[in-house]
Amino acid sequence: MAEAHRNETAADSEGVDRRTVLTGASGLAMAAGLVAGYGAFGAAAARYLYPSEPAKKRWLFVVEAARMKSGDSMVFRAPDGASVAIARQSESGNVGDFLALSSVCPHLGCQVHWEGAANRFFCPCHNGTFDPSGRATGGPPGEAGQSLLRYPLKLENGLLFVEVPDVKLAATDPVKPNSGEVC
Ligand code: FES
Repeated sequence: MAEAHRNETAADSEGVDRRTVLTGASGLAMAAGLVAGYGAFGAAAARYLYPSEPAKKRWLFVVEAARMKSGDSMVFRAPDGASVAIARQSESGNVGDFLALSSVCPHLGCQVHWEGAANRFFCPCHNGTFDPSGRATGGPPGEAGQSLLRYPLKLENGLLFVEVPDVKLAATDPVKPNSGEVC
């Protein structure tokens, strides 16, 4: 009888210990969830109250304007890795002769290329088409109104410059100079 009572007492005490451990663990999990939740809220609030500066940009030399004739195009690689298609569409001698567009399709990111014969940019992935100014005209980008990103250009003393996001290159990054090759 006494033996049975001792066993019941031991079992009760084990149950109490298990409950204590489980209660403690769930309390800890709840506290961790609250900290994570308030942390995310705090980070969002800090971003709202102290917005980061807009991305810096800089002008980079592309090519001597005289090296491109009307109808020529070239690919310029920006420091952030973006490839920019630069085309000359007329020869009036001002910056309006040139156009710089992202060669990344805004639909799903394939590379677009210039089709001189059709006077359009073409994306082979889903037959996306864009007019010479980069405006979407067909395929999924045309349906969604997703035009090609346009980069500002300027001409100074016959030299063409493009404005691109400023990216600091690490000292160990291999620097690949733009070839300036005109297609
Ligand atoms: S990725 Fe260019 S049309 Fe789909």
